[in-house]
Amino acid sequence: MSYQVIARKYRPQVFEEVVGQKLVTETLANAIRTNRVAHGYIFSGARGVGKTTTARILAKALNCAQGPTVAPCGKCPSCTEIAAGNSVDVLEIDAASNRGIDEIRGLRESVRYLPARDRYRVFIIDEVHMLTTEAFNALLKTLEEPPPRSLFILATTEAHKLPATIQSRCQHFAFRLLDYQELVAQLGKVARAEGLETSEGALGVLAQAAEGSLRDALSLLDQAIAACGTKLDEALVRQMLGAVPAVMLAGMMEAVAAGDAARVLELISKLAQEGYELTHFLGEFTRFVRNLMVAKTAGAASSLLQVPNEERQELARFAELASEEDLTRYLAILLRTESDLRYALEPRFHLELGMLKLVHARRLASVESLLAELSASGGAKKSADLPAQAALGGPGETRSALPASAREGPPPSREPKIRQLTGQPTDAASAPPAALSANPPAPSDERLAAIKARLFGQSKLLGSCLEPLVAWRFENGAARFLYAKKDAWAVELLTSHERLATLESVCAQEFGQPMKVCVTLQDQEAESSARRPDARERALRDKMVEAFTKTFDAALAEVEDLSQE
Ligand SMILES: Nc1ncnc2c1ncn2[C@@H]1O[C@H](COP(=O)(O)OP(=O)(O)O)[C@@H](O)[C@H]1O
Ligand SMILES: [Mg+2]
Ligand SMILES: [Zn+2]
Repeated sequence: MSYQVIARKYRPQVFEEVVGQKLVTETLANAIRTNRVAHGYIFSGARGVGKTTTARILAKALNCAQGPTVAPCGKCPSCTEIAAGNSVDVLEIDAASNRGIDEIRGLRESVRYLPARDRYRVFIIDEVHMLTTEAFNALLKTLEEPPPRSLFILATTEAHKLPATIQSRCQHFAFRLLDYQELVAQLGKVARAEGLETSEGALGVLAQAAEGSLRDALSLLDQAIAACGTKLDEALVRQMLGAVPAVMLAGMMEAVAAGDAARVLELISKLAQEGYELTHFLGEFTRFVRNLMVAKTAGAASSLLQVPNEERQELARFAELASEEDLTRYLAILLRTESDLRYALEPRFHLELGMLKLVHARRLASVESLLAELSASGGAKKSADLPAQAALGGPGETRSALPASAREGPPPSREPKIRQLTGQPTDAASAPPAALSANPPAPSDERLAAIKARLFGQSKLLGSCLEPLVAWRFENGAARFLYAKKDAWAVELLTSHERLATLESVCAQEFGQPMKVCVTLQDQEAESSARRPDARERALRDKMVEAFTKTFDAALAEVEDLSQE
């Protein structure tokens, strides 16, 4: 394959090129210089922050023909083979797919041999927390008596799942998430090397969506190039991610601050007409308001704000539109609306309701202060309000985040008023749609749209991964999502454990039953696509069969496949 995905093409080859993990790389470089490399390391941290990269650099540093050296040459056979991932002395094992005792036994066997050519045998075990208990025990034995000239690097996204016995045998390095500036800087570097025409705004959108993972940032850049060519402007990139244009967010904030309910509804209608995911919009608006709150409390120059510099002035300006108390109240309402929206059958109504609550939030404040005055003048029985409040506040309710300024009186009196002002459909509709569980899974465009919307609600990165989907279907009880080769980035993004788990849980919610999901490239599964879904499965999905099994409480005994004749 001639095209190499950007994340792989720009994998750092020496310690200095690793971004944002100085603590780790400097300590390792020091250990090499002073000849104090340990036998076991744990590299923990989120996906795509440099664990495998650093492990390979360490292996090269130890095994380079000119080494051990902190600056491996990159040219000798050891270096080139390690970089390509096919060195005989540096073995990479994916514990997620080789979880069992046999693999670890095999590994223990092979540990007994000295390196074939190089100084060290290095074992890089990825997702090590997935190993079975027996496998862990076998690994522990090896770590307890490490054979000479062997090195174990255990990489994991979930270090807390490693047994204490393993942890105590290893040096532990925690890899941090990269911050916004680091992501933008690295994206900029790669963009220049690739000869792209782009702006900080465009890269900023990618950086925000990557949520701290450099691999994700680079995969998104790949996606952006596939969608937009070599000219990446902010609007296009936003569109690609399904992100709402900044002016929409600003316009909405202005309407809310001006108390203009009609304008708010107009804007929502516009969003819906232009085909934006409303859950997605709400997520972005929430982030926007959160940024305003940070700008208000910590100042627009604060590093707590993960935004491009050019946006900071804007934020400062908008922060003037509302008081800190207003903003906290907005945020509380928005978070609540987000959780309502997640299961809503009519997201638009919920969004409208939520946004109108914002418009009225100021008016509520005065009702509150009125009540405070009332209660100050004696008599109001606050405790009687409490049950009503409990009924209103779901788990998503963040009442403590609401300002409790003395002027406003005790908070318990507030919630029932919100309820009166806004009506109460939220409670009924926020329950997950139970009726779905009766349907057997079948792929349809509506289903896909619903799944997409749910995913967007959780993360726009995830949601955007479904955009280039070529086809999906059910096979052997699992949903299979297929992508074209050029969209390998989406497969790459979706096949991480956490993301796959999210996708599975979203599908499970949608279909009301547990779901397995697998995500593959189209030609990878060419052989299996030739096979039609199993006759039994097709029969189970048949409406008539379903009606029979239900009505007569029957089970399917035998299926004869006549379709091949
Ligand atoms: N800290 C980093 N500095 C530079 N590039 C990075 C960093 N982290 C990730 N990358 C990029 O992402 C890709 C995948 O990183 P990798 O080290 O495999 O992540 P993981 O932490 O999941 O093992 C690399 O090929 C590289 O392009
Ligand atoms: Mg890795
Ligand atoms: Zn070398």
